[in-house]
Amino acid sequence: MQSYFVTTPIYYVNAKPHLGHAYTTVVADALARYHKLSGEDTLFLTGTDEHGDKIVQAAEKEGKTPKEFVDGISARFQSLWPQLGVANDRFVRTTDEQHVRAVQKFLQKVYDAGDIYFGEFGGHYCYGCERFYTEKELENGLCPQHQTKPEFISEKNYFFKMSKYLPWLREHIERNPDFIRPERYRNELLGMIDSGGLEDLCISRPKSRLSWGIELPFDKDYVCYVWFDALLNYISALGWPEGDYARYWPGEHLVAKDILKPHGIFWPTMLKAAGMPLYKRLNVHGYWLVRDTKMSKSLGNVVDPVDMCQRYGQDAFRYFLLREMHFGSDASFSEEAFVGRVNADLANDLGNLFSRVLSMCAKYCDSKAPEAGPLNDDDKAIAELSAGALRNFRQLFGNVQFSQALESLWELVRALNKYVDAQAPWALFKQGDQLRLGTVMQVLLTAMRKIALCVWPVMPQASVTLLRQLGQETPDGAAPAVSLEAETEEFALLTPGTALASSSNLFPRRDMPAPAEAPAAEKKKEKKEKKEKAPAAPAEGEITFDHFKAAVLRVGTVRRAEKHPDADRILRLEIDFGEGQLRQILSGLAEHYAPEDLVGKQVCAVLNLAPRKIRGLMSCGMVLTAEKDGKLCLLQPADVMPDGSVIA
Ligand code: ME8
Ligand code: MG
Repeated sequence: MQSYFVTTPIYYVNAKPHLGHAYTTVVADALARYHKLSGEDTLFLTGTDEHGDKIVQAAEKEGKTPKEFVDGISARFQSLWPQLGVANDRFVRTTDEQHVRAVQKFLQKVYDAGDIYFGEFGGHYCYGCERFYTEKELENGLCPQHQTKPEFISEKNYFFKMSKYLPWLREHIERNPDFIRPERYRNELLGMIDSGGLEDLCISRPKSRLSWGIELPFDKDYVCYVWFDALLNYISALGWPEGDYARYWPGEHLVAKDILKPHGIFWPTMLKAAGMPLYKRLNVHGYWLVRDTKMSKSLGNVVDPVDMCQRYGQDAFRYFLLREMHFGSDASFSEEAFVGRVNADLANDLGNLFSRVLSMCAKYCDSKAPEAGPLNDDDKAIAELSAGALRNFRQLFGNVQFSQALESLWELVRALNKYVDAQAPWALFKQGDQLRLGTVMQVLLTAMRKIALCVWPVMPQASVTLLRQLGQETPDGAAPAVSLEAETEEFALLTPGTALASSSNLFPRRDMPAPAEAPAAEKKKEKKEKKEKAPAAPAEGEITFDHFKAAVLRVGTVRRAEKHPDADRILRLEIDFGEGQLRQILSGLAEHYAPEDLVGKQVCAVLNLAPRKIRGLMSCGMVLTAEKDGKLCLLQPADVMPDGSVIA
């Protein structure tokens, strides 16, 4: 039997799980279920990341020991998942004994192979980020993330010879287009490698400074760096080097773009150094924003997944997450969008189909699957549509394009509703054409059964309910025992006489939530401002507010930077404005910034300038700078903002 292993990041235990954690975990669950439904030997792993300075500080705040503290929060994560319909097969904690042993074994292995060395290192350490910054990376001497002054620490530490493996890694990424997906993140990693900014990885912390971690097997005065420790969860949970390791490794990972670098650079080079096979695939998704701004405690806009499930049901919540986000790009959450989607797709399209077909079967066929006659062209068209929809669904779902996969299934749902209208079973009943009526109902029931099966990975509870309403035996807690391939290619009608439910009301319509206070207030203000503004014509040298508004100004992050091949003063930048692809902008910064210093920096830019060609390359927009005595300085937001944030 083919095996399939899928993982989520192991989450830090210093915060309560929110929408973002829920998304990655629901996606992993849906993929695991999809592979279970396809009959594969599947293992789905999630867990918690419990070492590091932050934990010690958070524990101190609550007057607990680190261990007491992590036990409490890890338990909270574990009890959360079932409430979202997540059925992980395993849960790993970095404080598990099995994990600690695996980390030490791995460290020893790489040490023995000569890829770990002892060296002196001085750097600016930010406790918030738990990392060192180089002089260049600091902004006015402050941490670019936290805007706090890092502490200069000089100490002896152990280093992993990561840079030695970078050329090999580059080639591996180039040669395996599927290794990192979607493509924008693959390009981002190549850009990181090409920028030349990557060095060897410091993998230890002296115990004198930090003791909450895993002791190095070759030096008891040091503990292991949290990321080196955390990444190894993916194999320690399998019992590496024994246990299920051979059965499930290599697997595939799911992460958001925030942790691309450790997963795309550290982890494969670590595996290579240990002589182990690399993971199969790294699937990287974007960020959930809330009304287009970053979710954060201080803004008070953190979406609680449990609350959403309690109010709308776990199936609706999962459906929305998978349907709304295009995997790889950022998506915006709002309760209005959620309710709108649930009403349109679930209450109207799917819910309505089940409810009308089952009540007609009750009225016309005594709630039993009827006998059918030969299929006519309309019926055959539905059978073909069903095969096409399932083929697309499977291909897209396996490719982590969940939104598109569901959309193609819903094309079938909507076609079935139209087929009901066109065939008008009520008229056939009136005419007494029982055989044609039976055929129409069978075509509907058969396609509905396939839809109910396909949604099992996304809406497990609803899927089981719908299947049972169609009289299909369905095991509790396990995948329906079917072959998806056969379901796709064959259109086998239900056995006549199968008992059906007499009604279905799985997805009630929801009321639109009352609009939140803030936007309403904003609208009022806007209206008022419009009124105040309207009469005043601009004076000489002024522009109207509308003129200003016409400029599309956005925040973005530089992903690649290099010198223009034919213009000395110009840099060619590729910038992420959250548009789903990078935008190329040429800027006269070459005498003011080294290209590698720009990669990862946020910039402000005008996007709707007419594109222009500069020495053979197109520039689509302009990066904003300030100038003094001929020296250019980039303009940046004071806090790190989501890419694409509006400047106004
Ligand atoms: O980074 N949108 O843990 P973490 C989408 N312990 N996903 C989001 C999100 C958002 N707004 N916010 C968080 C760590 N996530 C390390 C990982 S793995 C060896 C160690 C999700 O608690 C997303 O999956 O900060 C992201 O990658 C992860 O939470 C970060 O979780
Ligand atoms: Mg994080």
